Amino acid sequence: MIKCPEFLPNHLAEELVKETLQAKLLVTNQLLIGTAHSVELIRQRVGSVLGQDVVFFKAFLFLLTETTYEGVRVDDGEGWHNDASCNDVNGECINVWIPLYCSGQSSGVRVATRRDNEWLYSALPQAGARLDVLTKARRPDLFEGDGSDDLLVIDAANGAGISLKVSDLILQTAVGLSVGDAVIFSQRDLHQGIHGDGVRIQLTLKFVVDSNAAIAEETASSTSIKPTLSKHGVLERQLMRELLGLQAVHLRESGRVLPAPISFHEA
Ligand SMILES: [Fe+2]
Repeated sequence: MIKCPEFLPNHLAEELVKETLQAKLLVTNQLLIGTAHSVELIRQRVGSVLGQDVVFFKAFLFLLTETTYEGVRVDDGEGWHNDASCNDVNGECINVWIPLYCSGQSSGVRVATRRDNEWLYSALPQAGARLDVLTKARRPDLFEGDGSDDLLVIDAANGAGISLKVSDLILQTAVGLSVGDAVIFSQRDLHQGIHGDGVRIQLTLKFVVDSNAAIAEETASSTSIKPTLSKHGVLERQLMRELLGLQAVHLRESGRVLPAPISFHEA
């Protein structure tokens, strides 16, 4: 994981927020923003951080609030996962994780990188496979009662995997991020979103490293999935639009990101 504080200068953050507002958001949370000027500038910056050329692949926009995060907190793996969205193209795929609005100090991501946890990834049958992750807290039926292991990591395609203790993983954590910061990590690495307070609107840009694969820009034709009121449903889209609209105005007028709102306590 590479933490990049102040990765985007304010003018680029403002441009990115505006182009996010203009881009089409599919019901799958995919954002059609690949041709945006700000994304091209970010692509160049990512290439210079990594020292390798990268090619834009896909973008996703997420909203994290207490309620949208609840579904993650209670799933069988407590939100631990890797991404497999780039497995159909050549080359290593990286996530560039950019908060566009962040009012919480306890919101972010933790990653078990391959570099830090080679023993884990080398025990898995295929590099880059989609992994199913199950925790003892959520699925005690899958663990021996008196054993100390509390995490199962399983290759989703063939069922092979290993059992381990979360405390044996070396984790890198990025929280308390501000607009303009970025976090870069491999989509193959196990990661878990963290959300303790506030609201976070996050753009994930995916780039393929040094790929010869022809990557076509996604088009609006991929909208055939029936819309539903999901965790990122209609109401949340309205909230995202309004907060990003305020963020763009604030970046333009004050040159700074929106301050965190004054917190209130329930009676
Ligand atoms: Fe992910």
